[in-house]
Amino acid sequence: MRRKLAAGNWKMNGERAALDEIGLLAALPAAAAVDVLVCPPATLLAAAAERAAGTALTIGAQDCHHAPSGAHTGDISAPMLADAGARAVILGHSERRADHGETSETVRRKAAAAHAAGLVAIICLGETETERDQGRALDVAADQLARSLPDSVDALNTVIAYEPVWAIGTGRLPSTAQIAEMHGHLRARLADRPGAGIAAGIRILYGGSVKPDNAAAIFATPDVDGALVGGASLKAADFAPIIEALAATG
Ligand code: 13P
Repeated sequence: MRRKLAAGNWKMNGERAALDEIGLLAALPAAAAVDVLVCPPATLLAAAAERAAGTALTIGAQDCHHAPSGAHTGDISAPMLADAGARAVILGHSERRADHGETSETVRRKAAAAHAAGLVAIICLGETETERDQGRALDVAADQLARSLPDSVDALNTVIAYEPVWAIGTGRLPSTAQIAEMHGHLRARLADRPGAGIAAGIRILYGGSVKPDNAAAIFATPDVDGALVGGASLKAADFAPIIEALAATG
């Protein structure tokens, strides 16, 4: 049985005052079947992990380098993130693919590094609007999946986040039928590699304009194991009802 996961991606938002939101989320009663993760910017990781210590809330990061250490000015390694208190790391987000030229091969190396450091790799993928219009969404996402997955993948150390690029920060959403089709397709491809047993345990999140008022419909969609939430994760008052909607799906 896959545990549900509500994950927040704060992106490049949040200074020390935002730690109060971490405190509010950490104080929420733990929902038995739902994991809650917040990924603040790297500058807040250690302090956020301290605020969340001893609660059900876990803290994650937004990117890592593929090497454990070395001459890479400005980069942060997976062991450093783990040392700061992160339990997971978002990899291959479309903003990194677009802004930093990250390829799926880059993502695969980073995911292997995350696994070696004991972190859960949250591997993001998704089609652009043009690719969907051309009828290529399923193929594009499957190709990103195949290339981004390292051999170290197992059911617990990897989460897939389907984030259609055109739905991120736009208020636009795929239909629940399109989400179900994509998630079913990704799970079938996972059954090809790494294999059916692991595929059954890997969580597939939906991400892109998830809000309190649309969360319940998304979470009722087959093969959706939770959400990767951007803007609506910045305030506990917005993220909490999304977590509740996920818990209500049982
Ligand atoms: P929004 O929820 O702000 O659309 O962002 C989604 C996202 O990119 C999460 O990683």
